[in-house]
Amino acid sequence: MKSILTSDCMQIYQPREDSYLLEKYVKKLARGKVLDMGTGSGIQARAALEKADNVLAVDINMDAVNNLEGFEKLTAIRSDLFENVKGKFDVIIFNAPYLPSEGEFDPALDGGAKGFEVIERFLTKAKDFLEKDGFMLLVFSSFTDKKKVDQLIKENGFSFELLEKIHISFEDIYCYRLTIAF
Ligand SMILES: C[S@@+](CC[C@H](N)C(=O)[O-])C[C@H]1O[C@@H](n2cnc3c(N)ncnc32)[C@H](O)[C@@H]1O
Repeated sequence: MKSILTSDCMQIYQPREDSYLLEKYVKKLARGKVLDMGTGSGIQARAALEKADNVLAVDINMDAVNNLEGFEKLTAIRSDLFENVKGKFDVIIFNAPYLPSEGEFDPALDGGAKGFEVIERFLTKAKDFLEKDGFMLLVFSSFTDKKKVDQLIKENGFSFELLEKIHISFEDIYCYRLTIAF
């Protein structure tokens, strides 16, 4: 079976409304050691640099990783979610691929057949990489099945608050802040 990490010629996701929504909160809240999961163009990683001590940017797309060379305090690596990530972070950011797949799978947009599968895999592992007093910023859409995402967040031991919801054409975009539930 072809590894998801060997697929070539992926487009780098260019910032859209969901990116700008998240960027607003990254600029406000970033601190300490930051992990930008699914960095794409690096918009969140670069916004985090304004306040963070250092940033690790991760993407499954090697072109996105190469695109982020040369920034001070920023390291970029290729990884399928946390596969190649080590250590713990004060802040983890993820503008996830969140759409239900239709036709050919696009890793920048598609979260799996139902839309929430990448988020589910992310949430299953995230606690191991988050400092106890850290938080995560997660973006997804009304196409992702909000009820299911809320349930997955709780099942994986997190609490969440909705920072903002925006409406664009046919969907709502949610920006959540997640903390470890005690
Ligand atoms: C919706 S885009 C967000 C890009 C950017 N962070 C932003 O806010 O504009 C999702 C990104 O996640 C990456 N991605 C998808 N699946 C991934 C995985 N399993 N591991 C790491 N990155 C992944 C995609 O290549 C894409 O760059």
